[in-house]
Amino acid sequence: MELDQVEKKLKKKVKEIFLKTVPRYYDHTLKVVANMKRIAKEIDDPEDKTILLLAAYLHDIGYSVPYRGDYVDNISHQALKIKLHSDVGAKVTEEVLETMGIEPEVVRKVSYLVSVHHREHIEDRHLKMLLQADKV
Ligand SMILES: [Fe+2]
Ligand SMILES: [Fe+2]
Repeated sequence: MELDQVEKKLKKKVKEIFLKTVPRYYDHTLKVVANMKRIAKEIDDPEDKTILLLAAYLHDIGYSVPYRGDYVDNISHQALKIKLHSDVGAKVTEEVLETMGIEPEVVRKVSYLVSVHHREHIEDRHLKMLLQADKV
């Protein structure tokens, strides 16, 4: 599947999830995606481009997961909220991308990025770009 088609499908899915749960995160996600497209412009490798774009769409998907009658986004304990949306987000990422038929290597990497996207000390070139794109 071409990246354009993958993006179209994923955007639809992410929109559907956020609008039903924590709608403000759809707007945030679109901003991060726009930033990522700017940041990844000079990248030629198609797999790198795919990984970065998918990670931008899915990095905060964990906020939409139900938690004690509400959603993870509405947890008041900040450290728990950060940890949980990263952990459950990585699981949702795997499910969504596997359903779309994305290659296992790419699924693994994107899911990893989602799981660590608030851990600035980790040395990873993809993570560096995701952290940069997420500064909005
Ligand atoms: Fe996040
Ligand atoms: Fe974010």
